[in-house]
Amino acid sequence: MKKIIDVSLKCRNVHADKCKTDLLCVALFSKAKTLEKTCERLDKKLGGAIAKLIKLGDFKGSEGEIAVLYGNNKISAKRVMLVGLGEKKKVTLDTLRSAASKAASKAVALKAATLSLALHSAVGDKFDNEALAQAIAEGVCIGGYRYDEYITESENGRLGSLKVELIDSNLAKLEKLSKGIKNGSVVGKAQSYARTIANRPGNVITPASLAAEARKLASRTKGLSCSVFDKKKLTAKGMGGILAVGSGSKNEPRLIVLKYSPNGAAKGPVVGLVGKAVTFDSGGISIKPSANMDQMKFDKSGGIAVLGAMKAIAELGLKVRVYGIIPAAENMPSGTSYRPGDIVTTYSGKTVEIQNTDAEGRMILCDALHYAVKQKCDMIIDIATLTGSCVVALGKYSAGVMGNNDGLISKIEQAAKDSGEKVWHLPSGGDYLEEMKSKIADLKNIGSRWGGACTAASFLGEFVGKTKWAHIDMAGVEMFVESKQGGVGSSGYGVRLLTSLVQNIKKK
Ligand code: BES
Ligand code: MN
Ligand code: ZN
Repeated sequence: MKKIIDVSLKCRNVHADKCKTDLLCVALFSKAKTLEKTCERLDKKLGGAIAKLIKLGDFKGSEGEIAVLYGNNKISAKRVMLVGLGEKKKVTLDTLRSAASKAASKAVALKAATLSLALHSAVGDKFDNEALAQAIAEGVCIGGYRYDEYITESENGRLGSLKVELIDSNLAKLEKLSKGIKNGSVVGKAQSYARTIANRPGNVITPASLAAEARKLASRTKGLSCSVFDKKKLTAKGMGGILAVGSGSKNEPRLIVLKYSPNGAAKGPVVGLVGKAVTFDSGGISIKPSANMDQMKFDKSGGIAVLGAMKAIAELGLKVRVYGIIPAAENMPSGTSYRPGDIVTTYSGKTVEIQNTDAEGRMILCDALHYAVKQKCDMIIDIATLTGSCVVALGKYSAGVMGNNDGLISKIEQAAKDSGEKVWHLPSGGDYLEEMKSKIADLKNIGSRWGGACTAASFLGEFVGKTKWAHIDMAGVEMFVESKQGGVGSSGYGVRLLTSLVQNIKKK
């Protein structure tokens, strides 16, 4: 199996024109009247090539636009890439993150093994240098990512590694920039790690192999420990939801529990992160149509977002106690599957009438949520590719967020702003919850045809008692990302969002 491209990042004190590199990257705004300093210096040495490009209208500086020029003997870089940032007044950290992603993606396409970024010099002092460098580092990891571990053909020398540096001629800035780069690499690499595991297919990632992966992560990460409940333990505990969903598959279910306990966080709140990991969702006896069913290997992505976030949180050494709770099961039709009409007794003791075996995510999450409550988490955030309805409602650019506590929801909205992983608040409870009541059990696992994301959330809310809780439905943002950031497959959504959330909890 091939290794994923190794992306590494650092910082260097050098002038852009003196920077020896395969690809030097500078940023420009649209509608700018003059060239910014770094660009102007380069333009002079390139004999006015940048100015000419702009004058001809071949480069407008709009967001996401790129153009590559070639170096000469007056500059040290082999190539210069212009990246558009759009209008200056509209630029956010996410603009820089995306621009860095574009640049790294292009570097991979050009097989440029070294990439030097002076992107940030265009924005001046608009942002804190540490936050800016973190966003750029995250972007580089995103854009430099390709999922090709199973392609055995040699593709005439795909890069083994991409070495990236953030360059600045001002020595005073370097300390903050390198701190940001360091944190951004941790988060970016955790996200790439998550994408790789999410991209692996159902015959490779089973509940057991996912548990092994979590154990491996914990064994090499300071402060992180891992325990795993197998079928026997799940039975002993009475985790009927996870067992029911897993009952149709030879690949038996697991509950994976990661625990991060840093030194010096004995007081403060305990955070519970819960993520749905259905390693393959065929729908079970209520089987899905065959078109695009392969996409359902991504139905483990919520659990993997939690895994990736736990990696980032621990490696950043955040001073907050965090549980990462990942119920893992494969939803398959067989003679041993759970069936429509079954009544399942969940870990909490609440009973659920199964009306559709394809509404399985909530059946594994309800046990995991109750487990989080029992661990005395002060707040619980779950994340899942839970409903097609959420995709219909919000499309592929925002996840849905629902919950029982407005304070926690605004914290998640803030984390979404910081991380660039967007959320949109949707309603739950009340009338939506009424739809989930059964005539023959406490609850049923589906509501009416309408508002499926909201009814699903309302179901989950019944398993958290009075604990502050929020639910993130990430179905759209994970599964339909094809073109947005280059390459196909998992977006790794949630790693940055959850890490930012825990980071913000620490600050308070
Ligand atoms: N994993 C799916 C949700 C999903 C669907 C994610 C499409 C991404 C794209 C989930 O388990 C599911 O099947 N949900 C059903 C629920 C329904 C049976 C109440 C759905 O949304 O159709
Ligand atoms: Mn399903
Ligand atoms: Zn599912």
